[in-house]
Amino acid sequence: MAAKAKDFAYCPYSKFRVGAAVLTVDGSFFTGCNVENAASNLGICAERVALSKAVSEGHQRFKAIAIASDLKDDFISPCGGCRQFLIEFGSQWNVYLTKPDGSHRCMAVEALLPAAFTPEDIQKEKKEEEKAQSVEHNS
Ligand code: THU
Repeated sequence: MAAKAKDFAYCPYSKFRVGAAVLTVDGSFFTGCNVENAASNLGICAERVALSKAVSEGHQRFKAIAIASDLKDDFISPCGGCRQFLIEFGSQWNVYLTKPDGSHRCMAVEALLPAAFTPEDIQKEKKEEEKAQSVEHNS
């Protein structure tokens, strides 16, 4: 599905086609392709398109994502921004880096982005603030 989604890539600037397909825990699939823009920083990667489609239709728990490109000799690897986007939805799910021949390498999101900044870090800061406030309140 990721390889098929690649056919819709809109990449007139880089000519580098990427497709992605994400699998939710309840068995639904959402696909995406890269969508570039004349204002180049507005372009969006295939992975983020697929995930945003899923999230915008009510899915936030994922089992796996596959990524496909035309690179024959290398497994396509997600960019740093996409790794951060993936880890927003958990560190323990699978990323399939593929080649056009269908071979793949599977890595956990966590392995692709070690020592990540995650939603838990935001919660930690809130908890620290609450703790500090209750100490203030009790003294
Ligand atoms: N790209 C993706 O869509 N996903 C990746 O994992 C790597 C890069 C896109 C962004 C841009 O449209 C093109 O590939 C070249 O960087």
